[in-house]
Amino acid sequence: MSIQRAQDKLKVANTKLRKKEKMYQMNLDQRLDYLKRATKLTKHDINILSDPTSFTFPNADRMIENAIGVYSLPLGIATNFVVNNKSYLVPMATEEPSVIAAASKGAKAASNSGGFRAFCPESLMIGQVQLVSLPTSLVTARLRLEANKKEILRIANSKSRSVVAKNFGVRELVDSSQNRMGKILLLELLVDTKDAMGANAINTMCESVSSKLEDITGGKAVLKILSNYATRRLVKCRAIFPKDNIGGNETVENILYAYSLAYTDVYRAVTHNKGIMNGIDAAALAAGQDVRAIEAAAHAYAAMTGTYRSLTKWYKNGNGDLVGELELPIAVGIVGGAASVHPIAKIGLKVLGVKTAKELAMVLSAVGLAQNLAALRALVSEGIQRGHMRLHARNIAYTAGCRGNQIELVAKIMTEENNFSVTRAKEILSSLAPKRMDARHRSSTTVHRSKR
Ligand code: MEV
Repeated sequence: MSIQRAQDKLKVANTKLRKKEKMYQMNLDQRLDYLKRATKLTKHDINILSDPTSFTFPNADRMIENAIGVYSLPLGIATNFVVNNKSYLVPMATEEPSVIAAASKGAKAASNSGGFRAFCPESLMIGQVQLVSLPTSLVTARLRLEANKKEILRIANSKSRSVVAKNFGVRELVDSSQNRMGKILLLELLVDTKDAMGANAINTMCESVSSKLEDITGGKAVLKILSNYATRRLVKCRAIFPKDNIGGNETVENILYAYSLAYTDVYRAVTHNKGIMNGIDAAALAAGQDVRAIEAAAHAYAAMTGTYRSLTKWYKNGNGDLVGELELPIAVGIVGGAASVHPIAKIGLKVLGVKTAKELAMVLSAVGLAQNLAALRALVSEGIQRGHMRLHARNIAYTAGCRGNQIELVAKIMTEENNFSVTRAKEILSSLAPKRMDARHRSSTTVHRSKR
């Protein structure tokens, strides 16, 4: 598909957004109304979204032990995402100001060249069963396991209807920890998780085959658990950011310098990757995914070569435009898990409109790439603090004791002064006579956050 066609598609998607309608300029009712028009959300879904008590204590009590309450996070929408020629509104749950604005900005820059191209060829996960205290050599035990492959896979597959154990491999290991516990035979089930994240099903499979493995080898099965290092669920994403959309040649050059540091130095690489995960985690959380699993795999993958490096790659194409690539494992599901019991997560998936787990993983990778571009672009130009503090100003005003209209007004004054502190917010608050404050507030109905 040509860039022109992709841009046309985005235009069509954006016509659902009435002319000149920008989410950051809308109030809550307008945003919800827009969501209803642009997605398949029902009136009931919208009611759930706008009701702060929709995730109730009984919900929480069913999900975890010793529940004492519910911990809420802000939920917002990142705009401008086009991934494989389909446009998406991306729900993001995050407490960090500027993450959603940054993702939207990064996505907008990419949309000018056709958006993101993403690939996710496989949905295979590994389940590990550790066998120790073997009475025979590891080779003999391995051969016995392989001779019983059909039966082992039959037992594994008798436990799940949704995911399928396709095969297994066996690895011979020697404990290299200080305890020197001896030899380990590791049986690794290769499971097609399809549209599930797969953790529960794989763990059940591993547990279900373990006694058979003990019978076959005469050893002892200790660990029976999936590996979160989902290297067979890799997602690759690529986008071109036209130089004119991101500040010109100098910005491109400086982003390449920034990338060279993230590739070369672990202290920078961790922060660089944290920025990528700001986006992926927030979008994954809004869709009810296991964010810790995604994080663990991402960082292991960043260290795949033995040195922890940037998860993204940045370079210049023949036009002088910036090209970004992100590759990482993303294990997510659209059936089972929190995504099917948490009412807001269900809505998050509905807003995304993804039809498969692979599609969800691809959208998440695009969010990570957009987030990284936006962070690098801000870092090499005005820095991130200005935009960040502008958004954080309302929290500062609240902490200083502002309430109601006072919050917007004091945040606005601090933004104009570029002076953000609780002390300053308190000074402004005490200097404002209530009458004057109302008048000033009426003259500034909307405090525009950073444009995106
Ligand atoms: C802040 O949450 C994330 C950044 O530090 C990422 C980066 O430095 O690339 C801005």
